[in-house]
Amino acid sequence: MTKSVSTKSASKEWALILGASSGFGAATSIELARNGMNIFGVHFDRAATMPQVNGIMQKIKDSGASAVFFNINAADEQSREETVEEVQRTLEQSPGSYIRVIMHSLAFGSLGPYFGKSPAESLNQRQVEMTLDVMASSLVYWVQGIYFKNLMRRGSRIFAMTSSGGHSVLPNYGAVSAAKAALESHIRQIAMELGPYGITANSIMAGVTDTPAMRKIPNSQQMLEIALKKNPTGRPTSPEDVAKAIALLCDDRASFISGVRIGVDGGEDIVNYIGQSSPHDLGDGHS
Ligand SMILES: NC(=O)c1ccc[n+]([C@@H]2O[C@H](COP(=O)([O-])OP(=O)(O)OC[C@H]3O[C@@H](n4cnc5c(N)ncnc54)[C@H](O)[C@@H]3O)[C@@H](O)[C@H]2O)c1
Repeated sequence: MTKSVSTKSASKEWALILGASSGFGAATSIELARNGMNIFGVHFDRAATMPQVNGIMQKIKDSGASAVFFNINAADEQSREETVEEVQRTLEQSPGSYIRVIMHSLAFGSLGPYFGKSPAESLNQRQVEMTLDVMASSLVYWVQGIYFKNLMRRGSRIFAMTSSGGHSVLPNYGAVSAAKAALESHIRQIAMELGPYGITANSIMAGVTDTPAMRKIPNSQQMLEIALKKNPTGRPTSPEDVAKAIALLCDDRASFISGVRIGVDGGEDIVNYIGQSSPHDLGDGHS
């Protein structure tokens, strides 16, 4: 386990962000830090992308929050257990500290067809199971680890990143689609089982967003162009859109929203039409 630490905040609230070094996880880490939370970040980076990780930690620190980052494979049982123990030790150093937010934003799946030109060009058992393990099941094990150490409280929030692929199909996206459907199901179960303790769990369905994970999908450029044409707002989703929505859902006034999939996509998913929309001139106050 590689651990990077930058601590100075007196805040008792911590967010555990799985996938904190990029995309939605990075933007949410920075946004929640600006909202007064300290950040435990879990990520899986090689030396080449570590400057970006250090930059994210610096932004967290600049907002007066603490950042403790773990460079591990979040799907590895031993690494997860060691990290949860380290999280517990850190929280114990400041009595009253607890995990206010857990966010699952891991992108580590196999892309490809189920039925390629040959078995070698098709997703195999190991790839499908690995995708389901990292992108869905790991949520359950992380939440269990935090729950059984009593590190959450009433008002704690759990979020998991899903996509329209959880309920519709795309080429090469079969295993990730299955993982998203499973992830949403895990969120519902967690919401039911932890609801009595005042803990909420929701899936956040982002629109197609230009991130490193997105760029790995074959035809990603075409997907971005289609998303742009479909999106009623006229622009694609950004990581910051999701980060702001999660900060909003952390408000006490959102304490009764649980067990659902919340779209943060500008309405992209509901549009079943690709073409030029031509908004009428709505007059003063609209643009
Ligand atoms: N980008 C999109 O268009 C889009 C849309 C909807 C949902 N999502 C979902 O949002 C989530 C985050 O995607 P993103 O686009 O922000 O990706 P990203 O590539 O920008 O970030 C992925 C993060 O996950 C971490 N990670 C990956 N595998 C890991 C592992 N085994 N252990 C620890 N950390 C690991 C990376 O280090 C990184 O911090 C994914 O679940 C993705 O499916 C993405």
